[in-house]
Amino acid sequence: MDQLDQLVAEAGADFAAAADGAALESAKARYFGKGGSLTELLKGLGKLDPEARKTVGAEINKAKAAIEALLTARRDALQQAALEAQLAAEALDVTLPGRGAGIGGLHPVVRTLERVEQLFRSIGFDVAEGPEIETDFYNFTALNTPANHPARSMHDTFYLENGDGVMLRTHTSPVQIRAMQAHVEAYKDRETMPELRVIAPGRVYRVDSDATHSPMFHQIEGVWIGESVSFADLKGVVADFLRSFFESDDLQVRFRPSFFPFTEPSAEIDVAFMSGALKGRWLEIAGCGMMHPNVLRFGGIDPERYTGFAFGMGPDRLTMLRYGVNDLRLFFEGDLRFLGQFR
Ligand code: FA5
Ligand code: MG
Repeated sequence: MDQLDQLVAEAGADFAAAADGAALESAKARYFGKGGSLTELLKGLGKLDPEARKTVGAEINKAKAAIEALLTARRDALQQAALEAQLAAEALDVTLPGRGAGIGGLHPVVRTLERVEQLFRSIGFDVAEGPEIETDFYNFTALNTPANHPARSMHDTFYLENGDGVMLRTHTSPVQIRAMQAHVEAYKDRETMPELRVIAPGRVYRVDSDATHSPMFHQIEGVWIGESVSFADLKGVVADFLRSFFESDDLQVRFRPSFFPFTEPSAEIDVAFMSGALKGRWLEIAGCGMMHPNVLRFGGIDPERYTGFAFGMGPDRLTMLRYGVNDLRLFFEGDLRFLGQFR
């Protein structure tokens, strides 16, 4: 039986010496193939008498099983090593810089926002910001829209779960209140308050989606408050702005009577497409009006002494008009084939 143990040891060494699959298969043949050591031993059994055949046969089968186990183990080890070698050879260094990095560009809506800011700064407006997560007070109540006012249903609002009346703002109008409060605080020690002239660009959110509505969109709020600000000033400022923005003197603009709880009187502003598939069609770009006395009061300003106008413009819509784009959602799909055209 020493002979069998020796055979197992020999096979183990043989298999271990095989450096690859092919070498292992030829080593295997030396034991299991025609004329292989195990095959020969099994053949020899026939010459033994039945008693001896039984015991010797069992011993040989034990050795055979041991050699098979060694073979399988070596085969697995070689496969694993081959796989690791392949993985190492094909490894990608994701930290390497890409080839031919393209030049990026500003998003068309960002271009509009920058252009609008520049034009309003040139006529003495400051630029303010407000939070995108707003309270019920700033988004509705202070804008003369109490809890059960029907105008609240004009906005399909994204409320925050467990937020206790906290929501994604549905418009930039809450910044009217914040800007008035900050202005009043800044000049509280003065006899007369200087005029407040401010725009507030930013993202707003509504449950809305079609060619001219996106659930996330932008607005630019504008406010001008002083001792003799009138609706004529509103029309003049907006008309001048639009002509400069679109670089066109024969731009078609109309003011359409409308309703907002926070302005009285109120209007919506439409501009006609000058190019693209929608040429000649009207598109609403803003709501506006004279600030309601209650809103001035919520901002801490005396409506007996001061008047103001406000507007809320849609820069995404301005961008549609400027470039003749017929679906506003294209701006937010992140498709570089589309966005790359505005560089
Ligand atoms: C308002 O949001 C008022 N806060 C505007 C306002 C401000 C009126 C100050 C008076 C005084 P409105 O819902 O109409 O109004 O929206 C204003 C503009 O935002 C629209 O004219 C349009 O240009 C744009 N807008 C509205 N909803 C969407 C939307 N889902 N996607 C893209 N633009 C939108
Ligand atoms: Mg509207």
